[in-house]
Amino acid sequence: MKLISMPGRTLSSAGKIGIVVLVLLTAALLTAWAAARIHWLSGDEVRFSRDIRPILNQSCMPCHGGVRQKNGVSFLFREEALGTGKSGRRTIVPGKPDESELIARITSSDPEVRMPYHAAPLPAKQVDLIRRWIKQGAKWEDHWAFAPPKAQPVPVVKHANWARQPLDRFILARLENEKLDPSPEADKSSLLRRVSFDLTGLPPTEQEQSAFLADHSPDAYEKQVDRLLASSRYGERWAAVWLDLARYADTKGYEKDNERPGVWPYRDWVIDAFNRNLPYIAVFPTISSSLSSWRAICCPTQPLKMRSRVLSIARRL
Ligand code: HEC
Repeated sequence: MKLISMPGRTLSSAGKIGIVVLVLLTAALLTAWAAARIHWLSGDEVRFSRDIRPILNQSCMPCHGGVRQKNGVSFLFREEALGTGKSGRRTIVPGKPDESELIARITSSDPEVRMPYHAAPLPAKQVDLIRRWIKQGAKWEDHWAFAPPKAQPVPVVKHANWARQPLDRFILARLENEKLDPSPEADKSSLLRRVSFDLTGLPPTEQEQSAFLADHSPDAYEKQVDRLLASSRYGERWAAVWLDLARYADTKGYEKDNERPGVWPYRDWVIDAFNRNLPYIAVFPTISSSLSSWRAICCPTQPLKMRSRVLSIARRL
């Protein structure tokens, strides 16, 4: 073996065994280190919102959530998921995957019994995640949109000099985890075009383009972002998303195609709210309080008929 013989010297057999043991030990240590690292990278704790909810939504909710509760099983709320199905067995027993009917159903080899019903089985990785999640106590989390944002520790990254501000590090950490390199920075014209479409839905004008190209200050880009955020086009662009959800542009009725004249105060209100950066609760009081407060902020001077049309849209969201 080349590895253990050195030129001009022969090793005693005890020495050879010693070296072999050393090599094996090093290999074992390296493997353990790599495994620990992968474990660390994939994160030990299974998180409901990140890891489990997407699986349930994708594969189980069509038949087990909200109004559809096949065999009395629903995965919409934790209390329901911990309940008992028609079979009399508990769907999820926190800490005990092997006593949970859910696990029995997703791992069954009988296609008549296995879930998802009459479909391909869940991939082994998903089954493992669900098993680990139940073992760890089947902790539930609110939908992320309802969880107040909390400051997160800034991740440690290998190429810290790539990051210009703390947020970049979160992106870089994920790229490094996935063994991806960041793309090279785009040229200035592309950057301005992209950010203009993102924030205002419009391309930059020639003058805006040349002003940006001529600006060599280190915060030239940030200045453009501020300019675009301050533009009234910003509110128009982002209100469009909301107005689509509220079906602002729809006509009135289903079987009839009636017009809905005079609903523009609702549109103006939403645009203005975005431009004033009002908090959600102030923008859409219908969800937090009575319609009378909406009436007061939206269109107190408009004729009653028009107000009621506006209210009919406002009530949708
Ligand atoms: C296409 C509809 C459909 C989908 C999708 C589906 N199920 Fe079901 N599920 C059923 C039906 C129908 C039954 C009742 C028949 C049976 O027991 O086999 C059932 C029964 C069950 C039961 C047994 C309830 C009892 O009686 O105790 C469990 C647990 C269950 N499903 C879990 C799941 C899980 C977990 C998923 C997602 C991986 C899933 N199901 C996806 C239709 C579905």
